[in-house]
Amino acid sequence: MRRKLVAGNWKMHGALARNQALLSVVAGRMAQMPGVDCAVCVPFPYLAQTQHLLRDSAVQWGAQDVHQQAEGAYTGEVAASMLCDFGCRYVLVGHSERRSLYGESSQLVAEKFAAAQKAGLLPILCIGETLSQRESGATEVVVAEQLDAVIKLLGARSLRDAVLAYEPVWAIGTGKTASPAQAQAVHAFIRQRVAGLDADVAQGLRILYGGSVKAANAAELFAVPDIDGGLIGGASLVADEFLAICNAGQN
Ligand code: PGA
Repeated sequence: MRRKLVAGNWKMHGALARNQALLSVVAGRMAQMPGVDCAVCVPFPYLAQTQHLLRDSAVQWGAQDVHQQAEGAYTGEVAASMLCDFGCRYVLVGHSERRSLYGESSQLVAEKFAAAQKAGLLPILCIGETLSQRESGATEVVVAEQLDAVIKLLGARSLRDAVLAYEPVWAIGTGKTASPAQAQAVHAFIRQRVAGLDADVAQGLRILYGGSVKAANAAELFAVPDIDGGLIGGASLVADEFLAICNAGQN
């Protein structure tokens, strides 16, 4: 059975005092939840604080983006090795906000995925369709294109050391969640596509669902066979909400 992962994506939210309050509650309560993996993906400036507060806890942490090159003259960018220096285990790549607001292509996202893995991080590859793509029946084509960019660059085996997150863009931050059946259909499609190339990798691959997950809907989403946890935006900023979602993910 795949162990569920609940990962928080703080996006561009946080402040030292608020982070401290949130992380200390989360770290304390996660000690009583051995049946689920938990992580927080925080803004770069808070990685040192996060490392300090979570170092001896059951909660892992990561970043929300990484540059595709190992180092160099890329003003303002952050390399994978730097994330490792701060104890990161995960890094998000290809979040829909990066794709839409910063024009990240699937090819670039695949390069970021490669850079993360090369440094020993576990990339969380985010994929998902917009509302108009869903309405025009293109969901599977879009998700396949985003996934295939990584498979083409690195092979299906690369997914053994990675996590996928299916996040329908129309459900992110909108309060509109995909129904468990809608999400399951896409998750099963993704797993079957990987299974066509490598059945073992597909069997072990964790596919998170993201998009307006909250305490009130987490349990029904996590109950379907191909959802292996969640990527949580807004609700990850509220300790009780986030912890209730983690609890719903316990096996
Ligand atoms: P949300 O964001 O939970 O606030 O919808 C999810 C995400 O963007 O990862």
